[in-house]
Amino acid sequence: MFARLRRKRINPVLRDLLKETQLSVNDFIYPLFAKEGTQIKEEVASMPDVYQMSIDEIIKECYELKKLGLYSIILFGIPQTKDSVGSDALCDHGIMAKTLRAVKEAHPDMFVVTDLCFCEYTDHGHCGVIDPVLETVDNDITLNNLAQQAVIHAQAGADMIAPSGMMDGMIQAIRKGLDSAGYENIPIMSYSSKFASAYYGPFRDVAESSPSFGDRRSYQMNPANRNEAILESIEDEKEGADILMVKPALAYLDIIRDVKNSTSLPLACYNVSGEYSMLKIAGKAGVIDYDKVMMETLIAFKRAGADIIITYHAKEAAVLLNK
Ligand code: PBG
Ligand code: ZN
Repeated sequence: MFARLRRKRINPVLRDLLKETQLSVNDFIYPLFAKEGTQIKEEVASMPDVYQMSIDEIIKECYELKKLGLYSIILFGIPQTKDSVGSDALCDHGIMAKTLRAVKEAHPDMFVVTDLCFCEYTDHGHCGVIDPVLETVDNDITLNNLAQQAVIHAQAGADMIAPSGMMDGMIQAIRKGLDSAGYENIPIMSYSSKFASAYYGPFRDVAESSPSFGDRRSYQMNPANRNEAILESIEDEKEGADILMVKPALAYLDIIRDVKNSTSLPLACYNVSGEYSMLKIAGKAGVIDYDKVMMETLIAFKRAGADIIITYHAKEAAVLLNK
C-alpha cells in the first residue's frame, strides 16, 4: 500500500530503464597543459594526476585518451616568455600554435579545442592588455588581439575556439576575425557565464596564470548574480556563439539550469580545478569514495542541463563508463 513510489526502485533492470539522465564518454572534453621542451611531464601539487606536458608527451597522452574513447581535448599553453601583451599567443611559433600543429598532425581524428585568453601569456597575468589609468583590462584593444589570436589558432589547426576572457563583444570580434580569414567553419564555444571564482586556484598553479596585482572581478562575474549570468550567455548567443558555457559547475548548478532554459544552443559546463582537487584530495585521504562521488557529481551536471562537461575527471570516468 505504501510501495507506490518504491516499487519502481526494487528491480535493478527497471531502475536502469527508468534512469532519466545518461552520462557517456562522448560528453567529455579533457584539458591539457602544453609547455615548451621535451619529455616534460610534471605533476602540480595542487592537482594530483594533472600534468604540465611538453608537446611530445601531449601526443603520447592523446593515444591514451583515444584508447579510452576520449576524442576531445581543450588545450592551454604555458609559454617560455611572457610580456605585457602576451606576444607568445600572437605569433605562429608560440606554444599554442606549435602544439596545435603537432597534435593535429599526429592525431587528425582528435577534436582540438583551444582556450583563447591572454592570462597565461601576459607578465601581469590578466586576461588582456592593461589600461594604465583604469588599472584593469582595456576591453577594445583586447578584442583586436583576441581576434588575431583566434586566427592563429585556426591557422595552426584548432577545431573549435573557446574564448575565456569575459570581454564585452568578444564573440562578435572573434567571429568577424575568423570569417574574414576564411574560417567560417570553426565554431566558437564561449565561456559565456564565467564567475570570478576562488575554485580556479589550482588551475592557476598549473597554468602559471595568477594575476600579479588585483583580481579578475572587473571582468569575471560576481558569484551572487543569477540574472546577470543569463544576460551574459544570451548576449554571446546574439553575437554568434555556437555553444555556451557555465563556469564553474558544481557550485553553479542552478545557473546551468537557468541558462539551459533560456537558450536553444548546446550548453557546456566547466568542472574546474578546485572542484576536481577537492574530490581528489578527499578521496586520497579516505574521506570519500572518490569514484562514486565523481560519478554522482558528473551526472549532476547532465541533470542540471549541461550537454558537454569539461573535466579533469574525464579519464577516470571513462574507465568506469567503459566497464
Ligand atoms: C583562463 C582560464 C581559467 C580557467 C580556464 N580558462 C582561469 C581563470 O580565469 O583564472 C580555469 C579553469 C580551472 O580552474 O580549471 N582565463
Ligand atoms: Zn584569462
